[in-house]
Amino acid sequence: MKMYQFLKTRHHKEFMRDIQSQFVKNILTDVCTNPKESGAAFAPSNIALCKYWGKRNPSLNLPVNSSLSISLGSLGTRTEIRLHDTPATWADRVYLNGQLQPPESSFVQRVTSFLNLFCPMLGNVHFEVRTENNIPTAAGLASSASGFAALVIALDDLAGWGLDKKQLSMLARLGSGSASRSVYDGFVQWNAGSNSDGMDSFAEPVFKPWQEFCIGILELSDARKPVSSRDGMNRTVETSELYKSWPQQAAADLKTIRAAIESQDFPLLGKTAEHNALSMHATMMAAWPPLLYLQPETIEQIHKVQRVRSKGLEVYLTIDAGPNIKLLFLEEDEASVASTFPGLKTIKPFGSC
Ligand code: PMV
Repeated sequence: MKMYQFLKTRHHKEFMRDIQSQFVKNILTDVCTNPKESGAAFAPSNIALCKYWGKRNPSLNLPVNSSLSISLGSLGTRTEIRLHDTPATWADRVYLNGQLQPPESSFVQRVTSFLNLFCPMLGNVHFEVRTENNIPTAAGLASSASGFAALVIALDDLAGWGLDKKQLSMLARLGSGSASRSVYDGFVQWNAGSNSDGMDSFAEPVFKPWQEFCIGILELSDARKPVSSRDGMNRTVETSELYKSWPQQAAADLKTIRAAIESQDFPLLGKTAEHNALSMHATMMAAWPPLLYLQPETIEQIHKVQRVRSKGLEVYLTIDAGPNIKLLFLEEDEASVASTFPGLKTIKPFGSC
């Protein structure tokens, strides 16, 4: 059995839970719990400009490489949590965009198994979670990032822990790696860290606003992806020869993107982010069985971006583990980009949307 297949077995899931529970206990060691009736929070979605791809520890979601993202302002997830100390006949309830989700769905399973990690501090309780996304769920628009960040911040609000952002980032990371970055606005760097206990792997803000920076969401499909990023990256790490060069490239790209943000050098940022995303997809295509998230319409739009850029329009792209494209451009080109790509939804992470 390959490692990426073993990671899905019951035996491994139990092993993983023990490690995660211990990690949660470590973070909450000296923290007092003063629960109130409910807690609520909003967290923005984020788009990585230098991608997180590959875990050095799948139980604690410790990444192989550091990554850097931009948070999407008011686009993200709002979550409210309530506690019920009702008898065992009552199961956790999870609502997504107003709809009660089936308990056996993978969405509910992921949310409740994450929340159960916190039961030792909260007692024998059930959770009622109401979560609203203003971005499509699981279509490569990073809703799990904002989802787990909002869940952790709402839980902190409910339990009265008063955790700092570094602790919130590490707890969100357990739900979904990219969620570690969604506890901040603006540009955010997630440091991979090197400790095996995961205590040095958390996100930090870059504190460098860039008012003119725009992101355009080109939504080509809202279908759920057939392979989750979690499974996709495990398979890539294990079976793709091309993955061997990824950690080195990601480290160099991160450095270049940081420098480009510092000096507000947009072409340098754009081309490094685009190169980084396409290189990540190359590592996936070289996995076995191969992973191909790009659809025919994605390829068509990649060619279009290259074509219009060769004619002088300063626009670049990035793509996550899905078929949708995110365009990167500056405010001065907003009108030209919008007319070239009909249906584009433009976000100004540092300004009004
Ligand atoms: O956090 P996950 O497990 O959903 O993985 C995210 C992976 C990418 O979106 C492809 C890259 C990234 O850094 O967000």
